[in-house]
Amino acid sequence: MESIWTAETKIRKRESLPGDRDVQAVVIGAGIAGILTAYYLKQAGIDTIVLEADRIGSGQTKNTTAKITSQHGLIYDNLIQTFGKRMAQHYAQANENAVSEYENLILEKKIACDFVRCPAYLYSEKEETRLRREAEAAETLGIAASFERTSELPFPVAGTVRFGGQARFQPLKFLSGLAEEITVYEKTKVLRVDGMQVKTARGMVTAKHIIFASHFPFMNIPGYYFARMYQERSYVVAVEGAGTMEGMYRGIDKNGLSFRPYGKVLLIGGGNHRTGTDKQGGQYDRLRKKAQTFYPECHETAHFSAQDCITLDGVPYIGRFSARKPEWYVAAGFGKWGMTSAMVSAHILSALITGKDCPEADIFSPGRRITAGAVKELFSHGAYTVKGLAKHLVPSGNGKTAPNCPHMGCRLEWNPQTQTFDCPCHGSRFDRNGRLIDGPAQTDCKKT
Ligand code: FES
Repeated sequence: MESIWTAETKIRKRESLPGDRDVQAVVIGAGIAGILTAYYLKQAGIDTIVLEADRIGSGQTKNTTAKITSQHGLIYDNLIQTFGKRMAQHYAQANENAVSEYENLILEKKIACDFVRCPAYLYSEKEETRLRREAEAAETLGIAASFERTSELPFPVAGTVRFGGQARFQPLKFLSGLAEEITVYEKTKVLRVDGMQVKTARGMVTAKHIIFASHFPFMNIPGYYFARMYQERSYVVAVEGAGTMEGMYRGIDKNGLSFRPYGKVLLIGGGNHRTGTDKQGGQYDRLRKKAQTFYPECHETAHFSAQDCITLDGVPYIGRFSARKPEWYVAAGFGKWGMTSAMVSAHILSALITGKDCPEADIFSPGRRITAGAVKELFSHGAYTVKGLAKHLVPSGNGKTAPNCPHMGCRLEWNPQTQTFDCPCHGSRFDRNGRLIDGPAQTDCKKT
């Protein structure tokens, strides 16, 4: 089923790349990160085009819950411990600035996209210690954060962390408005990138700067992003008749839910799992049951799911792609926080490309130091790949062999929720006929 944003937004179609082009910068991917980056580069006088395999906003942007917030789960206490206060401050400030930059841009361009300032909350039904620590950590970094005991949720909570001055909007209306200023070539799939040449079936683009903003970088080497990120799926049901709430909420307990209002609609999200590891399904039904329990009068109007890239240390990879390719750039690994991370990417990448000072760039740099926690994640992530690769050698339990992933050969798993074949190794997805939906794979899979 399509998301509530897709159902109500028509974005103007664009032509495909008409032939070879020579430009200063080319952005791969016309989601929110790609369009914002192209916009700021253009503002800086850089001749920029965007190449999109499908349509503007047809990737992950259409399935977000579109919370614009610096509240990224329980992150700030951990960032201070891991990277020190100064770096944690840069992370916090970059994301707080992102909220304001959206507001300024929307006002300046007069983009009607239901932008609303509102508070964001983390909540727990049973513990307050970690919430209190997070509130204190965020406050020391300059965020308007506080620990509170009450909430608008339909069940009791042990406490919440409130961030004031956050926001939400309709992401595709915003994207549609901003993309009017950008040269985007749709239905122009990038086949490969050699040096400073981007090859597509429609022609070749030669550029001085190449920006990978396609959710998951499809080039395995250099960068090795396939080993440094995994993908996670989550699910949303949209209901009407649940009443309204001012804030946006996210639970920190196991199986915690998220709540996000949009007009008469309430989005209830949850059911997160590593892509390719939920064979049982039932995530939508669990959310529906919760919705009926909390709001007996409500009825479902839509359901949809999202795919998020998670990095080893929870901080996005934004910056130079690799020391070996200094003129390639990447924006990836946004976790559940695609909206602010997209704006942070646009800010950092345009600064790097135009040679401006950008102190926030270090904490997001893909080349930052690897923490002890990240090393542990690297091994755990690697174990999934080993298991997935080993599995493709043997038939499945019912004697049939599931398709293998064309990315690196792992056995795909059937996801009954989304009726797709999903890869547990790095998260590529394919429809029931084997057609590619999400990378890093670049081609369809062969059904057995
Ligand atoms: Fe890498 Fe499937 S996505 S093997």
